Amino acid sequence: MSSSFRALVATQVDGKTQLDFQNLTTAQLPPGDVLIEVAYSSLNYKDGLCVTGKPGVMRSFPMVPGIDLAGKVVESSTDEFVPGDSVVLTGGGLAETHWGGYSKFARVKKDYLVNLPAGLSAKQAMAIGTAGFTAMQCVLALEKHGVVPGSKEVVVTGSAGGVGSVAVTILSKLGYRVVASTGRADTADYLRSLGAAEVIDRGIFTAEAKRPLDTERFAGAVDTVGGTTLAGVLRSISYRGAVACCGLAGGSNLPTTVLPFILRGISLLGIDSVRAPQPERAEVWSRLAADLPLEQLDAITTVHPLSDIVNMGSQILAGQVRGRAVVDVNA
Ligand SMILES: NC(=O)c1ccc[n+]([C@@H]2O[C@H](COP(=O)([O-])OP(=O)(O)OC[C@H]3O[C@@H](n4cnc5c(N)ncnc54)[C@H](OP(=O)(O)O)[C@@H]3O)[C@@H](O)[C@H]2O)c1
Repeated sequence: MSSSFRALVATQVDGKTQLDFQNLTTAQLPPGDVLIEVAYSSLNYKDGLCVTGKPGVMRSFPMVPGIDLAGKVVESSTDEFVPGDSVVLTGGGLAETHWGGYSKFARVKKDYLVNLPAGLSAKQAMAIGTAGFTAMQCVLALEKHGVVPGSKEVVVTGSAGGVGSVAVTILSKLGYRVVASTGRADTADYLRSLGAAEVIDRGIFTAEAKRPLDTERFAGAVDTVGGTTLAGVLRSISYRGAVACCGLAGGSNLPTTVLPFILRGISLLGIDSVRAPQPERAEVWSRLAADLPLEQLDAITTVHPLSDIVNMGSQILAGQVRGRAVVDVNA
C-alpha cells in the first residue's frame, strides 16, 4: 500500500485553519486497529464547520475532516474485523481527535466501527450517516419514553435538513402523525413526500411568547435547532411528553422556564451520537435497516464529489442543503 492517495487535510497556520488536498500514503495515517478503503463519506452540519475552517469540532492538527465513512477493510489487527468486511463508522471522534473520512484510506480504532447491516450499500450507509443515525437515536428515545404512534402529533424541527428529513421519514413510516417545522416554505412538497401530515413555519415557535405555556399540541418532538425554537417546542408539548434534543442549528442557548417541566412533567432527552457505545450502535443500525424505507432514503440523497466539499460545507452552514448529501471520496 505504498502508492499515494488524495485526502483533505486541515492544518493551522498562525492560529488560522487552512484546508488543502494532499497526497498521502497509508504510512502517514495515524495508528489504529483497522485500515479501511473508504468508498463514501457524508456531509453533516459539523462537517460544514470543519471544511470552512470554523472552530468547535477539530481538536488536533493536522486533521482529516469527515465525521463519517463507509468502505471495505484492507488490513486489521483485531479478530473482530477481517479484510473484505464492509464497515461503517459514524462519529466516534472522527474529525475531532482522529483522522476522518474525507480520504481514500483511513486507519481507525475498532471501538465504534460497525459491520454494515445486510442489505445496505456503503452509499446508503453514508446517506444515513451521522444525521440518520442521530435521527434514529431520537426516535428510540421517544419510544422508550412512551411516545408511541396513535398518541398526539410529533413535531420535527429543522425538518428539511439531514437529521430532520430522516426523522420525518422514519416517524411517519412507524405510523406517527408528523408535523414538519421548516423555515423553507418551498420544501413543503418534499416534506409531505417523506410522510409529513402537516408542514408549519418555524416562526410559530420563535415568535415572542405571550405565555410561559402554550396549547398542549404535541406528544413529542425531535429538535435539531435548539435556541428559541426549542423553547417554543417545549411550551407546546403535552402532559408527560418528551423532546429528543440533538442539535443547535439555530443556537446553543435555551431561553425557557422550568414550567414545562414542573407543571407538565415533560422530559428533555439529550441525544449524543459521537460517543454512543457499541450495543446502542448495533440497535440503531438494526432499526435503521428495518424502519427506514430505502426508496425514501434514495429520494432524500444527493451525491457530491469530494472536490466540491468546501462549497457544500458553506451551503450546509447556510441551511441550504436539503436532505442528505453523500460524498464520493474518489471524485
Ligand atoms: N447530537 C448529535 O450527536 C448530533 C448528530 C448530528 C447532528 N447534530 C446537530 O443537529 C443539527 C442538524 O444537523 P444536520 O446535519 O441535519 O444539519 P442540516 O442538514 O444543516 O439541517 C439543519 C436544519 O436546521 C434548520 N436551520 C438552519 N439554520 C437555522 C436557524 N438559524 N434557525 C432555525 N432553523 C435553522 C434548517 O431546516 P429548515 O430549512 O427545515 O428550517 C436546516 O436544514 C446540527 O446542529 C448538528 O450539529 C447533532
